[in-house]
Amino acid sequence: MLVSGTGTNMAALLYASRLPGAAYEIVLVASNDPQAGALALAEAEGVPTFALSHKGMDRADHDAAMDAAIRESGAEFVALAGYMRILGDEIVGRWAGRMLNIHPSLLPLYTGLETHKRAIEAGDSHGGASVHLVIPELDSGEVLGQVRVAIQPGDTPATLAERVKLAEHQLYPRILSDYVSRGYDADYLYARVAELALALPEAEEKISHGSPGFRTGGKSGKFFAHFSDQHHGVPHISVLAKTSGQDELLDLIERDPDTFYKPAYYGASGWVGIILNRPGCDWDQVAHWLERSWASVAPKRLTKLRDAAAEF
Ligand code: GRF
Repeated sequence: MLVSGTGTNMAALLYASRLPGAAYEIVLVASNDPQAGALALAEAEGVPTFALSHKGMDRADHDAAMDAAIRESGAEFVALAGYMRILGDEIVGRWAGRMLNIHPSLLPLYTGLETHKRAIEAGDSHGGASVHLVIPELDSGEVLGQVRVAIQPGDTPATLAERVKLAEHQLYPRILSDYVSRGYDADYLYARVAELALALPEAEEKISHGSPGFRTGGKSGKFFAHFSDQHHGVPHISVLAKTSGQDELLDLIERDPDTFYKPAYYGASGWVGIILNRPGCDWDQVAHWLERSWASVAPKRLTKLRDAAAEF
């Protein structure tokens, strides 16, 4: 987590992480302000901390030092909670899709500062908070979840901020938990595979041996992928794709056993399992394998068209 202030959101995330069955663990709280209250709380709770004042430092150098500390901690995701420094494109790019922030407004309304004042002055019925992915443009990444907070007559920015904080403390742990869990959730993984597979020419879904499969070339067409959810006692949720044969299959597994495995039955005919429920699953690699597998079984009329298009 990156924080600059009192860290009430950090506290909410931390205590949620200590409930039974929590989906995440906080491995580091880092701040650009060595005096931040959040750091003292994290220390008291036994969470490792890192502090480096940004004063007198280049933005890129400061970001790089924070990034190094984050990576050193082994973190897989970064949650910003009141981190009052704008992060440069480099660190944001490195953590793309893995860095979240909480913002005290109903985005896309009121990016930036003084959100409560602006909501009250606009006569809005509600303020609220949003958890969103971080992209280089400030407070503009995909919104993952929001909670609305009614604005009451006589509310000041301070009174509204206080209730919005209560709402934030409910929102952030829930959204963060769901977000970090989805890479291990069969429904989510299946939906991503299906999206990639069905984008290939004349691909359609067809149940095969009780599991979703994807084939191309119509009714008599061949399968190019199978989705496998912990079949035959393996812990993997995976997609099966065709290799050129046993040599390549075994070579892949030897070179990268965290990604590839030999699936029961299918493995014997050269299908490789690409493990999806693992940290840092590489979706470009999955897309590449789906495409390759598709090309190996697709009828000539389809591959010809595709090869011709690729030449442009
Ligand atoms: C929160 O209002 C959050 O929405 C904003 O910064 C504030 C952090 O407060 N990004 P705290 O330090 O978590 O109490």
